[in-house]
Amino acid sequence: MMNVLSRSGIRAQQVAKGPASMGYPSMIKLVGVEKALGGQPVLRGVNLSIPAGKLTTIIGRSGEGKSVLLKHMIGLMQPDRGEVWVDGVEISHLKGKRLNQVRERFAMLFQGAALFDSVTVSENVAFPLREKRHLPEAEVIRRVEEKLEQVGLSGMGHKYPAELSGGMKKRAGLARALVMEPEIILFDEPTTGLDPLMAKAIRQLIVATHRACGFTAVMVSHEIPEAFAISDWVAMLRGGTIAAMAPPGEFRQIADPDIREFIAVGDPGATQVGGGRREWERAA
Ligand SMILES: Nc1ncnc2c1ncn2[C@@H]1O[C@H](COP(=O)(O)OP(=O)(O)OP(=O)(O)O)[C@@H](O)[C@H]1O
Ligand SMILES: [Mg+2]
Repeated sequence: MMNVLSRSGIRAQQVAKGPASMGYPSMIKLVGVEKALGGQPVLRGVNLSIPAGKLTTIIGRSGEGKSVLLKHMIGLMQPDRGEVWVDGVEISHLKGKRLNQVRERFAMLFQGAALFDSVTVSENVAFPLREKRHLPEAEVIRRVEEKLEQVGLSGMGHKYPAELSGGMKKRAGLARALVMEPEIILFDEPTTGLDPLMAKAIRQLIVATHRACGFTAVMVSHEIPEAFAISDWVAMLRGGTIAAMAPPGEFRQIADPDIREFIAVGDPGATQVGGGRREWERAA
């Protein structure tokens, strides 16, 4: 058990435990997850297997429960019914130290960035490093500055979140998620609200760090086709269950008229074969 919980990395043999997978090693599995909030059912039996080391994008209408779904993966919300497995460990009943051990393997970029308002941007990014790692101060500063530069915020570290635009806050949140170099990163709409060039730069940063670090990524995005172009897998949440999950090229071929309509609105290439990450990388 300790071996599974250790930071030894994402290894296929470690993820073989838990419920049967879909033919790939999975890092996170939701089995029959149901959740009601404010008296309304939100998740109505979600079965979802997130491939280890890949980038999976979750799409779906506003209010469908995408953010709620991510919060179940990281143990911030518990299901009313069903199971949540992370690397072979069922986490939905874990508490305290054991839950924290699992959470330490994650970083999450929240939809609203969720920065601490009372400290500077640098302190925000340094926070998880100071909390979880015992590094020399010079190393903390070096890593923080490196991440700020990567997200286009160099020289902004001394500012307070209230002094930043919405897009800058988002980028600071991204720097904070990346600085720990975790095994699993959940991105809740990482590029929504950014100008198109900055959104593109952030997507490229996500892909580049993903390629370099090999973490398991789950991203919620409304940006079609851009999100398809960087994803290995796409899953659609609809009516509280997963309506479909496939690699982007196959996802575009799904016959279900409802799914076709949803993805076609933002995606002029929806009827074409192909697409997906490899094609995008070739073009980049
Ligand atoms: N803490 C909470 N308490 C009560 N209801 C909640 C809570 N969090 C979410 N909800 C409700 O659950 C539903 C799904 O919310 P969620 O934020 O997951 O949607 P979403 O798919 O992420 O939407 P968007 O694309 O707009 O971000 C909504 O009806 C929302 O009002
Ligand atoms: Mg949301």
